[in-house]
Amino acid sequence: MSKLIRLGFLGCGNIGGGVWHLLDAMHDEILRRDGIDVRVTKALVLSIPEARTDVPRGILTERADDILTDPEIDIVCEFMGGEQPAARFMQRALEHGKTVVTANKMALALNWDKLDAAARASGAGLYYEASVGGVIPVIRSLTVSLEADRVTQVMGIVNGTTNYILTRMTQEGSDYADVLADAQRLGLAEPNPAADVEGFDAAYKLSILTSIAFHTRVPYEKIYREGITGVTAADIAGGREMGYTLKLLAIGKRTGDEIEVRVHPTFLPDSHPLARVDGSLNAIFIQGDYCKDMMLQGRGAGDQPTASAICGDILYAAMNADRPTRPSFANTAEADPALTFCDDWRCRFFIRAEVEDRPGVLASVAATFAGEGISIDSVRQSSARDGRAWITLITHEAQEKAVRRAVAAFEGGPVRVESVIRAEG
Ligand SMILES: NC(=O)c1ccc[n+]([C@@H]2O[C@H](COP(=O)([O-])OP(=O)(O)OC[C@H]3O[C@@H](n4cnc5c(N)ncnc54)[C@H](OP(=O)(O)O)[C@@H]3O)[C@@H](O)[C@H]2O)c1
Repeated sequence: MSKLIRLGFLGCGNIGGGVWHLLDAMHDEILRRDGIDVRVTKALVLSIPEARTDVPRGILTERADDILTDPEIDIVCEFMGGEQPAARFMQRALEHGKTVVTANKMALALNWDKLDAAARASGAGLYYEASVGGVIPVIRSLTVSLEADRVTQVMGIVNGTTNYILTRMTQEGSDYADVLADAQRLGLAEPNPAADVEGFDAAYKLSILTSIAFHTRVPYEKIYREGITGVTAADIAGGREMGYTLKLLAIGKRTGDEIEVRVHPTFLPDSHPLARVDGSLNAIFIQGDYCKDMMLQGRGAGDQPTASAICGDILYAAMNADRPTRPSFANTAEADPALTFCDDWRCRFFIRAEVEDRPGVLASVAATFAGEGISIDSVRQSSARDGRAWITLITHEAQEKAVRRAVAAFEGGPVRVESVIRAEG
């Protein structure tokens, strides 16, 4: 006997269309393999006459209530994007006892406590595999496969647009603005690229990832965020010469009751597995007490890979309707007061500076860093022109605030610091 599952879509653009096509193509195989008869009965769009979709027009509606309160719909799939009204609609669906599947990291990261409370109260499920890393099964890996372990670190390339831009800058030596313009022409970056290039998107994803990895709510507001808009071709070239590759990383570390969460451009040694994840691919590197090092990699966007993750959630929800997977922690809006969030982390630093080409300048640079307890791992100097030269250096592990103090101490002197970029790995 097969089980009928009726879906209502909130939004039917790129991703909604991708999910509809996957379910259409795979319907008979899923029915045969899993005994689940999945049907899309309604799909919400802003305007039916202007809808950019090829799903049957008869299932389209402009009224959210046609889906949220329809007793025949079992699972509501949210693909609208944006925080509101998506989060409100998901909450209402959950309050009506409907399981929700979403790909929306922003709405989830900012409203997870309310959505989780509504799901627990009505007994419905809340699934969000596609909200981080597209098709990469990182949510289920953390919440199911690694549940017995203690994860101490997650480091991810979770934004395909910025990885595409940085990869092309690295491979071609091009400037940020030129590659961004090209990515916009190719449809790989939005006309307003801020959510990606300023690191907002990666920070929403890091909030979700670290909350489940560290079994405690990591509010979005706790995340330090720095985008890639200030990265130059010269920075990338300087790192390359020293054996480093630049990535926008979402980094989370937990040591006891201290958590560190940050999104920023990061140099990685070329030998690090994340350094070889190029183009629009995503990857998440995980370290745990028992699993040790592992990495998951795949397509972080695109209608088909994202649809694969979403449909996996739909089938999982259908098969586990009476025992939905819940986060293992108290899902509060605020962080647990027993935790501290570190703003003075330790890592290595890449520093590029223009210096006067005269005896003693390099020694004075080393002395300033030494005064803050920072030691230098390696340094390179370009040949001098017009009495000026460029130095690039990598420090050993140092305290963030000590490096900031050292850099401030150079102001107005013969050393002009152009770039300070953190390094991991
Ligand atoms: N694109 C990706 O590769 C990708 C990957 C992972 C996750 N996601 C996430 O998936 C979600 C959807 O992305 P997408 O690329 O499919 O977006 P999209 O192409 O812009 O589609 C959005 C859909 O939602 C509808 N919609 C938006 N606001 C609405 C409102 N207020 N009322 C009713 N309908 C509304 C739109 O209707 P109209 O058609 O009438 O405009 C459209 O059908 C986002 O949360 C995104 O972050 C996307």
